[in-house]
Parts: sequence; structure tokens; C-alpha cells
Amino acid sequence: MSSGDRVTRLLRLLNPELAHKLTIAALKRRRLKRLDRDGDPRLALRLFGLSFPSPVGLAAGFDKNGEVPDAMLRLGFSFVEIGTVTPRPQRGNPKPRIFRLPADGAVINRLGFNNLGHDAVARNLERRRGRGGLVGVNIGANKDSDDLIADYIAGVSRFAPLASWLTANISSPNTPGLRDLQEVDVLDPLLGEVMEAREASIAAAGRKVPLFVKISPDMDDGQLTALLETVLRHQVDGLIIANTTVSRPTMTSQQLQQPGGLSGRPLFEPSTAMLARVRALVGDRLVLIGVGGVDGADTAWAKIAAGADLVQLYTGMIYKGPSLPERIKAGLMDRLEGRNFSHISEARGIETARWAAAWPRQDETAGAPASPKVSGSRRRKRKKSDKPRTPKKTSSANHRP
Ligand SMILES: Cc1cc2nc3c(=O)[nH]c(=O)nc-3n(C[C@H](O)[C@H](O)[C@H](O)COP(=O)(O)O)c2cc1C
Repeated sequence: MSSGDRVTRLLRLLNPELAHKLTIAALKRRRLKRLDRDGDPRLALRLFGLSFPSPVGLAAGFDKNGEVPDAMLRLGFSFVEIGTVTPRPQRGNPKPRIFRLPADGAVINRLGFNNLGHDAVARNLERRRGRGGLVGVNIGANKDSDDLIADYIAGVSRFAPLASWLTANISSPNTPGLRDLQEVDVLDPLLGEVMEAREASIAAAGRKVPLFVKISPDMDDGQLTALLETVLRHQVDGLIIANTTVSRPTMTSQQLQQPGGLSGRPLFEPSTAMLARVRALVGDRLVLIGVGGVDGADTAWAKIAAGADLVQLYTGMIYKGPSLPERIKAGLMDRLEGRNFSHISEARGIETARWAAAWPRQDETAGAPASPKVSGSRRRKRKKSDKPRTPKKTSSANHRP
């Protein structure tokens, strides 16, 4: 066990938010030595014009303010997503708002986009300009915004010149109404305007910054196929599958009734099945980042086999420590050798069909491309009467391939 992993064990004795604060402070102070500058070429990937040293990245939420992306790259992550960042600073929900569920290898959080806002985060990224390394920015909307779409457009304009890629997070369960943005009649105008803002940012950014959409695992197949049709029509570069879930698959921890988004091991099967279903439907038309319950080489390999180009993780590191990215990369190399594959891309999708069969088909539109519900109404303002819709719950029992 590395000294970093031993420290992680001790930090788990503290309340989760304090442990996280101390970790960020320590990472800011220490100059970690770079573990893997170039990496093994058999894990390296070139996607949408960017060179990824390996498929293993850090998911959004760990470094919400872009304070330590270089420290995380030095730990062995090939790419780091900071955020979610909202235009104005935001405190988030009352504490306590993060709960560890060690018996389930899970976490429930209801942070609610606590972050320092565009200005402070942009300053952090400006300070590291020219250092290299892939750092993406995950953008969102303020809780009290009366123009959600405008918040995303502001995020695109502000961060396109500073980010390796941008992710529109429309799937956090902790900002009321945010997940409604996944419904086609709202998603369509949102993506129309976001893609326009991306085009408009080309001069300032010097390139077309790739745009990802991060989606919720709590969708039925009808919602998912309608979303995919919209995403493809707007020529979004890729999807991140998935955010935390409001469902509570079979679990043992007492804390499971805490409201909030569940991450970690219980999310692995539903998010992997959904990822495979998306890969089966879109083929090569989207880059897919698989996230949810990656806590070692087996789960990372399974995501790639299910159809992921890249994987991200967060909760796994809380339990397995900072050596996890290096251990995953070593494990992926072992698996490549065991199968006589010469490159990780050969593993992508080898089990898509098996995993996709585990995706629950919850309505009769399953399997058929949904007809676009393109609405002329541009719902820019959130109305008082808008109630967040309750997503259909998924059960882990349905997700075993
Ligand atoms: C404490 C915590 C905070 C998070 N904050 C964000 C966030 O701000 N934006 C976001 O897109 N995802 C956020 N996530 C979700 C993760 O990026 C990821 O999608 C999810 O946790 C599943 O991956 P995991 O099982 O590896 O943690 C957060 C997750 C956790 C545990």
C-alpha cells in the first residue's frame, strides 16, 4: 500500500466533506512527482483531436474549482474534468451533504453545485495555461437562475479558450429542475444555443472545443432514445454516461435512505448497461465516456468492453486511494496481454451486445429510434409552475448481463 493510500484510510475516519477539503489543501501544497508522463502506447488514444495517454480519467466533482488538476494528472489520470462550475459562486445545500456507505462501496451526495463561480475558476485555469495535460470543464446552471440556457451559454463562452473539452451537466439530481433539461423539448433549444456558442467561441479558443453532454442513469429507454436523436442531430461530440442515480439498488447501508445522488459500486451495473445500450444505438457516431462504479481494472475493462472509449471515476478513489489510476492502467495492460490484444481500442465494444441486453426496456419505444419531439417553444425561463419530473426508478436486479 502506498503512503497516499494509507493517508486515504486515515481520512476516511473524518467526516467526508472535511476529508475532501484537507485532501484538496494537501494536493495544492505538495508537488507530486509525475508518475507517468508518456505512458504505454498500447493505452494511448487519439479522440476528437486530443491525445489521451490512457483511457483513465478523473470524473467531475472532485476538483470543482480547478484547484488541483495538475496534481491529479500527476497521480496518473490521463484527463481531469473540473467542475461543475456555475456562473455565480454558490454555497450549495446545507451540511451534512456527503455520506459514505462503505459496506456498499458507495457515496450519496447532495452538494448542490457548491463552487466558486466562473470568475474564480477561470482565474485558476488561466494560472496553469501552457502547462499541457487534458483538463475539461463541466458547466452547469445556478440554482436560482431564471435562465438556465443562458448559464450554459455563459459557461461555453467563458471556458472554451481554457478547456480541453466542455461538458454540459444536465443530469445532477441535486439542482431542482436541472434534469428536466434532458427532455427533448428543452434539450433541443439548449443544444441549439450551446452549439452556436461553441461555434462563436472558435476564434477566441483557436479551435472547435469538443462538447460533451453528461446524462443521468435514471431514464427509461424512450427518454434515452429521444435524447440520443437530439444529441446526434446537434452533432454533439460525445456523452458521459452517467451521473449519480436517485434510485437505490439493493444495498445494505443504513444511510441509503439519505436523499441525493448515489455513486460507486451500486451504480456500476446500471450505468454500464446504459452505456452499452447507447453504444449499440449510436455505433461510432459519438465518443462515449463510461463512469459509475469504476474501482479497479476489472470494472474499467468492463466499461470499455461495454463500449466506452474512455472511463472516469471518483468514488472508487475515496475507497481505494490515490494509487488507483496507476493500478487500473497496469491491470488494463495485463488484460491486453492476456487476450493478445495489441491496443486498448481492440477491447472497445467486445461485450456491447451482452451488456446492452441488460438495459431495461421500460416502454414500447425501446429499440426503435424515437421520433423527434421538436418543439418550437424555447423554454428559456424556468417557471414557478415547473415541477421537477420524477425519473422512473431502475433496479439493479435488471442489470446483470
Ligand atoms: C461527492 C461527489 C460530487 C460530485 N459532483 C459532481 C459535479 O459537480 N458534477 C458532475 O457532473 N458530477 C458530479 N459527481 C458525479 C461524478 O462525476 C460521477 O458521475 C459519479 O459519481 C459516478 O462515478 P463514480 O461511481 O466513479 O463516483 C459527483 C460525485 C460525487 C461522489
